[in-house]
Amino acid sequence: MKDKIAIIGGGNLGSAIAEGLINSQFAKPENIIITKRNISTLHSLEERGVMISNNNKQAVHYANWIILAVKPFQVKDILAQLKSELDPFKHQIVSVMTGVWIKDIQEILSKHFTIFRAMPNTAIAIQQSITCICSHGANDEQSKFVADLFNQLGKVVFIEEKLMDAATVLGACGTAYAMRYIRANIQGGIEIGFDAATASLIAAQTVKGAADLLLLKHTHPEQEIDKVTTPKGCTIAGLNEMEHQGFSSSLIKGVVTSYNKIVNDM
Ligand SMILES: NC(=O)c1ccc[n+]([C@@H]2O[C@H](COP(=O)([O-])OP(=O)(O)OC[C@H]3O[C@@H](n4cnc5c(N)ncnc54)[C@H](OP(=O)(O)O)[C@@H]3O)[C@@H](O)[C@H]2O)c1
Repeated sequence: MKDKIAIIGGGNLGSAIAEGLINSQFAKPENIIITKRNISTLHSLEERGVMISNNNKQAVHYANWIILAVKPFQVKDILAQLKSELDPFKHQIVSVMTGVWIKDIQEILSKHFTIFRAMPNTAIAIQQSITCICSHGANDEQSKFVADLFNQLGKVVFIEEKLMDAATVLGACGTAYAMRYIRANIQGGIEIGFDAATASLIAAQTVKGAADLLLLKHTHPEQEIDKVTTPKGCTIAGLNEMEHQGFSSSLIKGVVTSYNKIVNDM
C-alpha cells in the first residue's frame, strides 16, 4: 500500500483505530505511525510492528494520511506546531475529534487541505462502530479510502457536516442509551428470577440479535415487533405498559436534550 497513516494522539480512540486497521489487514503495521507524549502505553502496538513516536513532526513527515485523535482543546497548539510540515498536495486530514469543525482546522492550516471529519463510537474498539463522516475538498478516491478505512472498524455513513452534532448524539451517546436500556432489562430480569450474570447475558445477546435483525434483513422495527406480539399476549401487554409509562417519549426527549446540550453548550 502506498498510503501511510499517522495517528496523532494514541489514546483510547487512536489506539483502537490502529488495532482495528491491523486486525483487519487494511494497513500493514509498518505503514502506521502513532504518536503521544508518553509512548510507554503504546508498546503493545509497537510489538505488533506499528511505529510509535512522541514526535508529531516525524509522523507527519512519514505519512500522507493524518488522523487527528487528540482531545479537542489540544488540537490548536498541535496543528500550529505542524503547520510548516503539512502540505495540501501530500497530506489528507481525518479528524475524529468531537466538536471540532472543518472550518476550525482550516483556520489553523488553510482552505487547501482535504479534510474529513469522522464520528465513531466506543464500539470501534471491537470493530463494531458506526462512523458518521463528512468532508471538505475530497475526491472520490479519497472518500473511498476513508470509507474503506472506517468500514474495517464497523459501518460507515456519509452525512453533511451540519448533522455532525446529531450524529454525535445518535451514534456516540447512543451507546450509553443502549447500555441503560440493557441495564434496565437486567434489573427486570433479576426481579423475575435470573441471577445477574445470566440476566446480563440474555439481555445483551437479545439486543444484539434484535439489532442484527434490522441490519441484516433491512426491516422496520415495527415489522419485527409484529412477529413477537401475539394478540392478548404478554409482549404487547408489556410494551403497552412501557408506552403508558412514557418509554418512547422519554427516549426521544433524552435524544433531543442531549442534542440541545451539545448545540448550546459545546
Ligand atoms: N473514545 C471514543 O470512543 C471517541 C469517540 C468519538 C470521538 N472521540 C474523540 O476522539 C478524541 C480522542 O478521544 P480519546 O477518548 O481517545 O482520548 P484520550 O484517550 O485522552 O486520547 C488522547 C491522546 O492524545 C495524546 N496527546 C496529548 N497531547 C498530545 C500531543 N501533543 N501529541 C500527540 N499526542 C498527544 C494523549 O497522550 P499523552 O498525554 O501521552 O500525550 C492521549 O493518549 C477526542 O477528541 C474525542 O472527542 C472519541
